[in-house]
Amino acid sequence: MKFFKQTINTVPLQGQTVLLRADYNVPLKKDGSIDDDFRIRASLPTIKKLLADGCKVVVISHLGRPEGRDPKLSLEPIAQRLAEHLGESVRFVDQTIGDKVAMAIKRAPKCSVIVLENLRYYAEEEANDADFAAKLAKNSGARYFVQDGFGVVHRAHASTSAITNYLPSVSGLLLEREYSTITKAMKAPKRPLVAVMGGAKVSDKIAVIAEFIKVADTIIIGGAMANTFLAYKGYKMGKSKFDVNENAVLDDIYAAARKKVGADKVDDFIMLPSDLAVGQSLSADEERHNKRADKLMADDIALDIGDISIERAVKIVASAQTVVWNGTLGYAEVPNFAHGSARLALALSTHPDITSIIGGGDTADFVLNWDARKGGSFSHVSTGGGASLELMAGEKLPGIESLLDA
Ligand code: ADP
Ligand code: 3PG
Ligand code: MG
Repeated sequence: MKFFKQTINTVPLQGQTVLLRADYNVPLKKDGSIDDDFRIRASLPTIKKLLADGCKVVVISHLGRPEGRDPKLSLEPIAQRLAEHLGESVRFVDQTIGDKVAMAIKRAPKCSVIVLENLRYYAEEEANDADFAAKLAKNSGARYFVQDGFGVVHRAHASTSAITNYLPSVSGLLLEREYSTITKAMKAPKRPLVAVMGGAKVSDKIAVIAEFIKVADTIIIGGAMANTFLAYKGYKMGKSKFDVNENAVLDDIYAAARKKVGADKVDDFIMLPSDLAVGQSLSADEERHNKRADKLMADDIALDIGDISIERAVKIVASAQTVVWNGTLGYAEVPNFAHGSARLALALSTHPDITSIIGGGDTADFVLNWDARKGGSFSHVSTGGGASLELMAGEKLPGIESLLDA
């Protein structure tokens, strides 16, 4: 399948100044330092290619959701980390638009990287403001705009939408790879296709489950998502985390599932855990107790899928050709409740023939930390949270749609 947009490989940007939108919205530690630089590393192939083509690369990104100029959310430390990864100096400018920006870029040599300050220091960014976008384009002196911030292309902001009215706009290599990998898994997967859905943000993910009912051969549900499904089916979930507001959506999901596979096969098609690992608190040393899903007590908290369910899930996954995984199978921040997620990661990494696509901020975090090869044990670890979910749900993403057609 050919990518439907122009990319940095299809336009003549050799020797030009380019304005590159990355998504450097990385998790920060309490002391403000970078907790995980996966998104920075993921942007390197595009930047290296542009440098090899003799471009001057002006990088823009947001970080967090600042109200005004919050110094804790400056992109300066990110520019430093980028320089370490590139092995060359990166110029940082503490403004995003204006004369200072224009001068700094003009003075910078060809084949250099300039990082501008946090786009969201300006309210105009999220307002998709035309004037702000025009200034970004003009002050950068860029000949092309390159969108490579896959994690943010579900937002229609000045740096994802309005900007494309001022510069010829093409895709970077990360955006192309994310789009192609995810849409191929949804539209033309090698089968069986197993979808694994977990995590806590049930309402955010329900639309994707509806899409998986259409395309997947088996759907495995874990995490607090499974608690929500079990509660819907009438199980007593004690003090577990679950959502009670999704019953109408779950009615629709089960109706669609029955229509697809028949009422007698629904519970094999949408696999819920038959046992759960429970604790009595969320503390780091909480013990893990396996219980049948219908045997929870009032003070039990279901924090992982149980050992029997783990074995069953691993078996199904091992016979798949494609596995799409979004959402941890349990409260994986605590090792005793990370068993389900860890066993799934192990199953995928020991079956390199399975195309494995992993998405979601916490899930990506989990597998990158779990994997000695920093994600290399899987086919694709997405840099997108909301963006990957919306893409899987078949939605059109404004930051991609606005680019030049191939
Ligand atoms: P992602 O960021 O990968 O999209 P979510 O944000 O939806 O995933 O969910 C991840 C969070 O869900 C993790 O912080 C994890 O601890 C939590 N979680 C998963 N299962 C449970 C559970 N059974 N009870 C409480 N929290 C859970
Ligand atoms: C993300 O981390 O999901 C993206 O960077 C978008 O950030 P936002 O949710 O603050 O718009
Ligand atoms: Mg999350």
